[in-house]
Amino acid sequence: MKRILFAVVLLLSGTSLLRADEGMWLPSEIILKIKDMQEKGFKLTAEDIYSINNSSLKDAVVHFGGGCTGEIISSEGLLITNHHCGYGQIQQHSSVEHDYLTDGFWAMTREQELPNPGLTVSFLDYMEDVTEQVLKGYKPSMTEEQRSALVAKNIKAIEEKAKEGRKSVSVSVKALYYGNQYYLYVFKVFTDVRLVGAPPSSIGKFGGDTDNWMWPRHTGDFSLFRVYAGADNEPAPYSKDNVPYKPKRFFKINAKGIGEGDFTMVYGFPGRTNEYLFSDAVRYTAYTSNPHKIALRTLRLDAQKREMEKDPAVRIKYASKNANVANAWKKWQGEAKGIIKMRAIENKEEFEAAFTKWSQGKPDYENLVARFKELYGAIEELSLVRDYQSEALNAVELVAFAGRGQRGAERFYKDYHMPIDKECFISLYKAYDKNIADKYKSPYFKEQLAKFGTVEAWADAIFTAEPNMEMAAEIYRNTNKWFMENYAPVLDSVNREITLLYRTYMRGMMEYNKANRGTKVFYPDANSTLRVAYGQVKGYSPSDAVYFTPVSSLDGIIQKDNPEIYDYNIPQALRDLHAAKDYGQWEVNGSVPVAFIATNHTTGGNSGSPVLDAEGNLIGVNFDRVWEGTMSDVVYDPEVCRNISLDIRFALFVIDKLANADHLLEEMEILK
Ligand code: ARG
Ligand code: GLU
Repeated sequence: MKRILFAVVLLLSGTSLLRADEGMWLPSEIILKIKDMQEKGFKLTAEDIYSINNSSLKDAVVHFGGGCTGEIISSEGLLITNHHCGYGQIQQHSSVEHDYLTDGFWAMTREQELPNPGLTVSFLDYMEDVTEQVLKGYKPSMTEEQRSALVAKNIKAIEEKAKEGRKSVSVSVKALYYGNQYYLYVFKVFTDVRLVGAPPSSIGKFGGDTDNWMWPRHTGDFSLFRVYAGADNEPAPYSKDNVPYKPKRFFKINAKGIGEGDFTMVYGFPGRTNEYLFSDAVRYTAYTSNPHKIALRTLRLDAQKREMEKDPAVRIKYASKNANVANAWKKWQGEAKGIIKMRAIENKEEFEAAFTKWSQGKPDYENLVARFKELYGAIEELSLVRDYQSEALNAVELVAFAGRGQRGAERFYKDYHMPIDKECFISLYKAYDKNIADKYKSPYFKEQLAKFGTVEAWADAIFTAEPNMEMAAEIYRNTNKWFMENYAPVLDSVNREITLLYRTYMRGMMEYNKANRGTKVFYPDANSTLRVAYGQVKGYSPSDAVYFTPVSSLDGIIQKDNPEIYDYNIPQALRDLHAAKDYGQWEVNGSVPVAFIATNHTTGGNSGSPVLDAEGNLIGVNFDRVWEGTMSDVVYDPEVCRNISLDIRFALFVIDKLANADHLLEEMEILK
């Protein structure tokens, strides 16, 4: 597919002006958007963002671990990302004697920086449109199976060629627009990455799950690492002889501050979005899937909460699990509400009706909408069965652990509390029994329930003083086998056909909009590849009679501070700094800025992403979105979709005044 096809201008539903800040753009194609960016205040060029031959901003952006973004902020490989992205590493270095999660950690010398086996930091070397090579040999007469085989073969060859003669690279070809376009990504991967600093969780996770996905927000969500290289500045396995990596590029820090209306840009690795979904899929998300999954997670969270409140040891054991369960639970609620409030389903249906009308007589497109309806209708019930398989049956810790072969037993039991799990078993299996039609339940499930009479009695047999691993494993094996053999194949084959339809639908939407002289440029759904989003610092109105301004400050932390509430209990040192107004050079209007919101289109994976000003200097670190805008993975509303960033000046304040780590500030380039 020719690049030009994807530059077609179009109009989705007549609201293109409002949707101005929607989109996650390919850095190598940013030339298509640069005029718009510049009109909105951006001062640099497309070459400054991404260049094949010269150093560009992209050289300072890294994929951190599997699922986050990070950025380089000194000539000596210093890296900043979120506290919640480095959480696992901080936890691994923590013990009762050195509780870095609680107290924070600061390496005062290079020798004190802590290695993290398994952690990788990847720099994008280059990206390249390889659509023509991937589809080489393709003929329209081919079946989808033949096409897949050809594509897989071509991709393998492209990847092998890209790897040739290079060490420590990771290469992958990724499909965009449901396989209308393909891109090759070549990364250089560093494995010696050391922990440099982290604030205490009472700053780095301030507000906890109470404030998660919310504005106003006051979380100092950052941590610092350093990338190390061999003597040749190339990736090398951990060695004490390694030296700090000299990056091609690092971000200068703008400490002059930002304000409402200022241009911002987020450069990172968004994970997954589905912006072109058919209306029925959005309806399923908002009215079926999310409500069921939320209800199931509420059961788990209730069980966890009861036990965590009773015993501080249990609270620590379940802190991370609880945060994970709560994170999606809260997001799904905002997402469903947002979809409904925006009338996203109705708007899509309207578009689909117009599309259908337009497509009459166009053989490629005229039956698309009807076929989508059929296919989504065919798998609606089974999709819910699948949701219950993962969110109910497999969500019991013991069942999953036993069923997957009891791997990592030591770690499992270290953070395991049986009363929670037993309660989850009872409530989740009851919910499954009640909400899933009998015909979809495995004979095994029905037999066991009949044998024990009640779910409670069944639970009593499993959760004995020594848990009955045999039974737990049997449940996992039987129910998953039943699902895999009876429903997964149907779901998979229908989903394959759906993906295929989207490939055509994508083209159809572009043509339709071109025919209607629209003004919008399409962007591919997020797929964990490097993207640029841009917008402006901006408040929003979450509900009637309420307006949120876009910048939060240390005064807000002090207002929330409460030693009685775990999520809001700040370190005494921060209280003291506030009482003495000891803000040093980070003072702004009698306080210190903490976080800000802007209209950049982001998603999970953008955590830790650099937030840049009009000159490409670092003003913040992205870490969340506002609750009312979490439907932006499916549909973006410029009125309420906001990303949340840590104001870089709060990180500098913490490094300076709390950690007294001046040496770190010295290696950065800070513009004042
Ligand atoms: N909501 C943010 C993101 O999705 C932060 C999650 C970590 N924080 C938490 N309180 N659970 O992933
Ligand atoms: N906290 C998310 C992450 O870990 C980013 C928030 C979002 O989904 O936008 O990537």
